[in-house]
Amino acid sequence: MRLLLIGDIVGKPGRQIVCRGLGPLVEREKLDLVVANGENAAGGSGITPAIYHELIAAGVDVVTLGDHIYRRAEVFDVLQKQSNILKPANFPAEAPGAEFAIVKAKNGVSCAVFSLLGRVFMRPVDCPFKAADRVLATLPAEVKVILLDFHGEATSDKQLMGRYLDGRVSAVLGTHTHVPTADECILPGGTAFQCDVGMTGPYHSILGRQIDRVLETTLTFTPSAFDVATGDVRLGGTIVDVDPQTGRATAIHRLVVCESELA
Ligand SMILES: [Fe+2]
Ligand SMILES: [Fe+2]
Repeated sequence: MRLLLIGDIVGKPGRQIVCRGLGPLVEREKLDLVVANGENAAGGSGITPAIYHELIAAGVDVVTLGDHIYRRAEVFDVLQKQSNILKPANFPAEAPGAEFAIVKAKNGVSCAVFSLLGRVFMRPVDCPFKAADRVLATLPAEVKVILLDFHGEATSDKQLMGRYLDGRVSAVLGTHTHVPTADECILPGGTAFQCDVGMTGPYHSILGRQIDRVLETTLTFTPSAFDVATGDVRLGGTIVDVDPQTGRATAIHRLVVCESELA
């Protein structure tokens, strides 16, 4: 079976390419489960209930988030009521949102999805390694296919998590940096790994935002609105093939879909 993790969806351009592109992509790549990181989906930061519903309608099965999860307060309601939009599992127990989701993939196999926030160059959070242990101990034994979105800044942190969970989950895939890494592999225990799956949004940008705004503020320290950029929109993510009997990954490959391919 095949899983896709779509990297951080940035603003309207990111949402639009998901809404236009995901249907044909599911057919072409024979995808059984689609997970998308939506932490930047609303104007570049946060997510709203309407955008959550838009992504689900487009074919996303589970929405993961990250450090920008609560930027839009109106999303609390969705986080509390829906089981397929997740907070990082190393957030406080009282923080709105589910720690993991168990969803039925297109082929009928139950899959677990969870996310964690890294601790290097990020806001202090609970230990992601201990939180991973806790989530895995909670999952029903019959759920073999498990995807982790590890939302972190440091490649070292992500490599450590990959090695820590090797053989215990199907995939450890990174998000948050908005830049895809070329290190995709299957670890010895059968876990698919990649430090970062990249961004879904405008690549003619600084991490999805308008270049001149970010540059001006960086050079002059004068605040400016970091509006979402518009050029060179791509859908970025990674596809993992998994043996549903064992939960072990058998293949991993990076995916980039450009706007021109959808014309
Ligand atoms: Fe992000
Ligand atoms: Fe992030």
